[in-house]
Amino acid sequence: LPKLRTSSFGRRLTLLDVVDSTQNELRLLAERGAEEGTLVIAEQQTSGRGRMGRSWVSPAGKGIWMSLLLRPPVPLPLTPQLTLLAAVALSRAISQQLPALEIGIKWPNDLLVDGKKISGILLESAAEDERLNYIIVGMGISANLEAEDYSEELLSKAISLKMASGQTVDRSALIAAVLEQFEQLYKLYLEQGFAPIRTLWEARSVTLGKRTELYTPQGTVVGVPLGLDDMGGLRIELPDGSARTIYSAEVGASG
Ligand code: BTN
Repeated sequence: LPKLRTSSFGRRLTLLDVVDSTQNELRLLAERGAEEGTLVIAEQQTSGRGRMGRSWVSPAGKGIWMSLLLRPPVPLPLTPQLTLLAAVALSRAISQQLPALEIGIKWPNDLLVDGKKISGILLESAAEDERLNYIIVGMGISANLEAEDYSEELLSKAISLKMASGQTVDRSALIAAVLEQFEQLYKLYLEQGFAPIRTLWEARSVTLGKRTELYTPQGTVVGVPLGLDDMGGLRIELPDGSARTIYSAEVGASG
């Protein structure tokens, strides 16, 4: 990676041509004691996975498919905060590389341009005796995919950075930017807690202030998201004026 200005993120790097999922590869390294900041990048994934059991399209050479190992000294229930931190880090890195694009965050961590998804983040954590052992942060950035790389169904809700900006993205430069932003925010988080991350996330959110459908494991909730709570949950105002906080849901139609 070109002139990487991080102290640990991406310093241990495994670069693979083809892998089933970078998540699996990094999990093996984590189980063998790999240190925080260890990174696995693949040119292509044959079974890339997304949130909610979905698959993730990962064609060869066109995107950024990578997994980063964290060993944060935080209680298990606070791990969703790192999901939000990751979204802020990625959106800042992309904005830095492609300033013309307006990147919005859809709760918890989808990155959108004009309402279409350009990047997704998947956190998988391992715990022992109720204690967090490590977190694998999987990041997929659809950098240089072309329309033909998407199914028709996906094309209605996803877009690549190249399609959105008309520019071919320098993937190495973008990876370096992501690692730098991520490490910076992670240090800030360890020093100052979630409050500064929460503010940054809220400023980039496209989920707040609009009537929204949320598909939770307990059923659909309709309300207006107001902001985050200090754990990282989404505070919603319900039609009857009462408040509720959602910790797990898929954000659906809004507006
Ligand atoms: C989502 O939006 O559903 C999350 C997508 C996460 C995709 C990335 S690509 C690198 C890493 N390896 C995987 O199998 N998934 C994540």
